[in-house]
Amino acid sequence: MSLANRRILLGVSGGIAAYKACELVRRLRDLGAEVRVAMTESATRFVSAATFQALSGQPVRVSLWDESAEAAMGHIELARWAERVLIAPASADVLARLAHGHADDLLTTLCLASAAPLYVAPAMNQQMWAHPAVQANLALLRQRGVVVLGPAAGSQACGDVGSGRMLEPHELRDALVASFGGGALAGRAVVVSAGPTYEDIDPVRFIGNRSSGRMGFAVAEAAAQAGATVTLVAGPVGLPTPAGVARRLDVRSAAQMQAAVQEACAGADIYIGAAAVGDYRPATVADRKLKKRAGADLGLQLVENPDILAGLAAQTVHPFLVGFAAETHDVAMYAQDKLQRKGLDMIAANRVGGGLGFESADNALTLYWPGGSLELNRAPKEALARALVEQVAARYRAVRA
Ligand code: C5P
Repeated sequence: MSLANRRILLGVSGGIAAYKACELVRRLRDLGAEVRVAMTESATRFVSAATFQALSGQPVRVSLWDESAEAAMGHIELARWAERVLIAPASADVLARLAHGHADDLLTTLCLASAAPLYVAPAMNQQMWAHPAVQANLALLRQRGVVVLGPAAGSQACGDVGSGRMLEPHELRDALVASFGGGALAGRAVVVSAGPTYEDIDPVRFIGNRSSGRMGFAVAEAAAQAGATVTLVAGPVGLPTPAGVARRLDVRSAAQMQAAVQEACAGADIYIGAAAVGDYRPATVADRKLKKRAGADLGLQLVENPDILAGLAAQTVHPFLVGFAAETHDVAMYAQDKLQRKGLDMIAANRVGGGLGFESADNALTLYWPGGSLELNRAPKEALARALVEQVAARYRAVRA
């Protein structure tokens, strides 16, 4: 990983996570980046400009009206100098001002004056993060191509627990490395399937399952952040397409998912099957709503669906294959059996139930591959997805590169 001679403008706004931005400057400089820091007035109440000056080795800018700083490098010059602008932490206030095009301090003026891609790492109390005003501002920024990194969920400085923690400095650094094409999956085509499948019984009924799609969507986002060109094949879920995903194919049934995955996997390097594919479908789909007949069984006949992963594994040329094994019991045994039986390169096993799995925000995974395994402890699905993608990239390099 390198950021040699890359020019990064780090914006720091007012929030307790500003202390983590100090570590971020170190991490970016360790990889050879030139970092210049612009702070909002309120950021200086958390960390002093002198701290960032010492860490970046460059003068720190706070005000538009600092004559000596303007004489050394004017703010327009600084905006042009930057190859990437990252605001970490990005407060609710700075996001609002960016969304509405304000230029009422140095940092927002720099963002308007810079043609460089803008990355924001929000950090705020979970209630503030969930506020519709904050989410509407973010939606507007995303529409304009601003990349929103995180936030993560977990315990907060204010004592709350929830979404709104700034991503860790090394995660922000990795996102910048990937943005320059140097991510762990740079140049790789990755296909991810996510969500449930619905198998129609008649025009109003179907057989489905409780997969929310969140794990697969988080994996797709993490793979994109690691520099991959990602195609996401999504079953019926109401989730927005994650940032950076190149193509999304929406499907409903297992047969449709198989066709979409097969098409997307032609020439792909890695397939991660995170979808909960229905194992059976009704033998026939009634074209009219089935009527209740009191006292009589429905006698629904089910036939087996194709196994998408096993189908890919049977082809002579196929991508590196990663499966998921969601089990209620004997997780290790079933996962290892599935790894072998389906001919996979890696399997991510999790226990469903006990507050984890399909409908929960957290998950815990054990990864198995031929000859090895690794525990990924309980964490929000987004954090787990990043850890999983890191391991997939490492195994892929070990066996294919
Ligand atoms: O056998 P089981 O359904 O538990 O295996 C789960 C893994 O296999 C998941 O990665 C899932 O996406 C994949 N799968 C599939 N096609 C099926 C059933 C499961 O690709 N018909």
